[in-house]
Amino acid sequence: MPRSIIIDCDPGVDDAIALLLAIAQPSALNILGITTVAGNVPLNYTSQNALKICALTKVDIPIYAGCPRPILRPLSTAAHVHGATGLQGTKLPEPKATLMVQHAVAFLIDTLQQATEPITLATLGPLTNIAVALIQAPQITQKIDHIIAMGGAITHGNVTPAAEFNIYVDPHAAQIVFGAGIPIKLITLDTTHQVLTTSKHLDAFRQLNTPVGIAAADLLSHYGTSDIERYGMPGAPLHDPCVIAHLLQPELFTFRPTYTTVDTISPENLGRTVIDWWGQTDKTPNVEVAASVNTPGIYELLIESLGTL
Ligand code: BDR
Ligand code: CA
Repeated sequence: MPRSIIIDCDPGVDDAIALLLAIAQPSALNILGITTVAGNVPLNYTSQNALKICALTKVDIPIYAGCPRPILRPLSTAAHVHGATGLQGTKLPEPKATLMVQHAVAFLIDTLQQATEPITLATLGPLTNIAVALIQAPQITQKIDHIIAMGGAITHGNVTPAAEFNIYVDPHAAQIVFGAGIPIKLITLDTTHQVLTTSKHLDAFRQLNTPVGIAAADLLSHYGTSDIERYGMPGAPLHDPCVIAHLLQPELFTFRPTYTTVDTISPENLGRTVIDWWGQTDKTPNVEVAASVNTPGIYELLIESLGTL
């Protein structure tokens, strides 16, 4: 039986690769819907980009546009990193499908309320849609199997010294989600900065010699150049596909239970995930944080999976 999931995302190059990975594994993942949120780029682009990825793979997954801005803060995008439209100008098929009329938050609430089995939420962007759904219908927590999220940092941020992008964009949403009593797994920058796309991987995607393989290579060849320069890394960190990889092959990661909160007040630390890694508080752990990753395993899974599309 495939696991039923909803993917909440803000494509974004790495979100796009994560969507391709999920779409490539229908026997493991039953994608009930894709919900989009403002993040890497404004909502109209994240939604159009999700439609383009579905058009590229010729799948018919309903896509629901969600919140156009964070709960309290103005939207700060990463367009300078991901290009103005979020997909670095890579040529993708124009979508024939259109967005669903229903709002992403209404879709999340209706789908969870009607679910007969728990649903997993895979989140790849700011947590605005999920937080608003939890505010509107707190009873949906009963129907969420768990949330597996990319976000936060144990050590250093990538937007500010303290904060990772997804949490920084909507820290209030993240704090609502982390405090909702839902089982949460968090894959932070400390893990994704070990999952670096090198020229060897780009060649492997291109050698698939399929529209999907070539698109993945094109997308990734421009991706993360600012990260490579800034951090002096040999490749760009592939954040969001880790979330889907974990659902497909949990053994690629280890996790550690922690008490985790989000700083929503301090100007210097806004959006920082405060992770009690050493158990220094007496608080009950609320978030399992990724502790290790098998990087070669992630790329093997990605290349093999995308090769099936
Ligand atoms: C996260 O921020 C976005 O730019 C990426 O898509 C990823 O979800 C990494 O900090
Ligand atoms: Ca993302």
